[in-house]
Amino acid sequence: MSAEAPQEDVTWERVGERAVLAGESRLKGTARGWQLLVLKVVGEDGDGVYAIENRCSHATARLDSGELDGCHIICPLHGARFDIRDGACAGPPASQPIRSFAARINGEDVEVAVPEKPPMPKPKFGVFN
Ligand code: FES
Repeated sequence: MSAEAPQEDVTWERVGERAVLAGESRLKGTARGWQLLVLKVVGEDGDGVYAIENRCSHATARLDSGELDGCHIICPLHGARFDIRDGACAGPPASQPIRSFAARINGEDVEVAVPEKPPMPKPKFGVFN
């Protein structure tokens, strides 16, 4: 699990039921204005539950339908790769990281530590938002 000590003022928010991650590897949710994607990984890169912002840093496409390759998610629009453990950009055309969040299973809930401040507005590009 990737529940690390947050560096800023955050609140643990429920984004879904644990049972969803038992049958699927991903869960979409929102909390405090953040669009979140929680991903469960089982493999040699490390088992865990990770949360990222559900937006690519390249042209803000949603990442929830992107292919998961170990601990990397591949943007479905242009193919950028991001490490879901820390949001690092791992392949073009994106050059900036995406936001990552601590995530945990708490009883029957999936929780994500989201900043108390809502996200900054992002530019909109047609149908991808
Ligand atoms: S929108 Fe994700 S790579 Fe372009």
